[in-house]
Amino acid sequence: MAKAKYLEIADAIIHQIDIGHYHEGHKLPAHRALAEEYSTTAVTVAKAYSYLAEQGHIESFVGRGSFVKSRSTLKQAIQSQLVEDEWNFSILQPCLGSAMEQIHNAMSQCFREALKPELFGYIENTGCSAHKQAGMKWLQQSSGLQIRSAEHVLLTNGAQHALSTLIELYSKPGDSIAVEAQTYPGILSIINMLGRTAVGVELDEQGMSPSHLQAVCAQHQPSLVVIVPSHQNPTTRTLSLERRKAIASVIQRHHTWLVEDDIYSFLNTEVIAPITNFIPEKSFYISSLSKAISPGLRTGFVKAPQSQVDKLAAHIRSMVWLASPMTFEVAAQLISSGVAFELAKDQKKIAEQRQVIARTILEGERLESQYNSFHIWLTLPEHVNTDEFVNTAKERGMFLSNGRFFCYNESYSQSIRLSLMSIPDQTHFEIGLRHLKTLLDQYQSSI
Ligand SMILES: Cc1ncc(COP(=O)(O)O)c(C=O)c1O
Repeated sequence: MAKAKYLEIADAIIHQIDIGHYHEGHKLPAHRALAEEYSTTAVTVAKAYSYLAEQGHIESFVGRGSFVKSRSTLKQAIQSQLVEDEWNFSILQPCLGSAMEQIHNAMSQCFREALKPELFGYIENTGCSAHKQAGMKWLQQSSGLQIRSAEHVLLTNGAQHALSTLIELYSKPGDSIAVEAQTYPGILSIINMLGRTAVGVELDEQGMSPSHLQAVCAQHQPSLVVIVPSHQNPTTRTLSLERRKAIASVIQRHHTWLVEDDIYSFLNTEVIAPITNFIPEKSFYISSLSKAISPGLRTGFVKAPQSQVDKLAAHIRSMVWLASPMTFEVAAQLISSGVAFELAKDQKKIAEQRQVIARTILEGERLESQYNSFHIWLTLPEHVNTDEFVNTAKERGMFLSNGRFFCYNESYSQSIRLSLMSIPDQTHFEIGLRHLKTLLDQYQSSI
């Protein structure tokens, strides 16, 4: 039987996308133009376009047309455009206002001082000792991590590089990796790209459930367990000390490694001992300056078990030689002068203010967050379709992160993640939130 015309058109468009002729963001021809080319009607082309939209290949906007969608789920989850007149509630970064000047000052100071040959050559090929010392200070002060020697600290190009390095080195294709059932899409994208399988561990109101982790470990024997223990992305939940001990005890009993990604620990009101403190020989602890200071620095720190330091250093050396000592020089300057901790405190304060504003404007909505989280996990009313809501918000200039991209198996989610920090101007931020509230009210009243 001959293929329906609309599917023939859809296949032809998918082929154009596959061969790179239609790239991401490419505007597809108007219905009438394509109808002429295929000797068919505009209605058939519209049917082909809605089929392509359903399948996730394109997105259509009233009055603007249809466009090829990104194939990277990470890119769809975290939309990094920062366009004036639009509201980016999608990207989780610090509020880059006055912080930029302080970072700039640290940079100028670093490079005004005496020339340091180690910054320019290949000699210190696992990173300068002074930079590891600074990393140790950051890890100890921002999270209460116990470290005996700066030699256990490795330097990476941000936490993302640390995560991909550890997943690549400590698992093989086909292995299971246990993650929070809803987690940071950057972790899921590494697991998928490297051909590993993500296994979701249930979350309750505190975060990862130790009893379900126990069941997952028994059933799937994951090579690694990846956990975000503080201000979890996307739910903002934080594991209590008791919960951390319980998780450590599960991991201790199984043949698996822990990767503790504690990039938001500086937001905790009181220091809560990391899980790593209870199982230091079975755990890799990750932090970075991306959320507290600036993601542009690309400075990440990993504290490795003593037995794994050489293996991990050799892997980093083979892959990237070393994370740039130039940016670590700036990071070390910020940390040793104490400015890094001041900047982190400032971000914490901004997050606190933004939470108050958001909770006031979005009153009546189902919101989850802590009083100073960088983001909010917002659950839409049951009758609202999240995919449609996120698309409509985008048409109106609001970028939101669809909860689907945080689910370990990309299943449908009734929630969205709302970043409160990526819009530097507070008035603009408030206007954006009011637009969002209007949209939520419109959907609410459309029952
Ligand atoms: C939990 C988590 N880990 C890692 C990262 C990436 O951090 P970095 O910029 O240091 O690579 C993010 C960024 O959103 C994150 O939320």
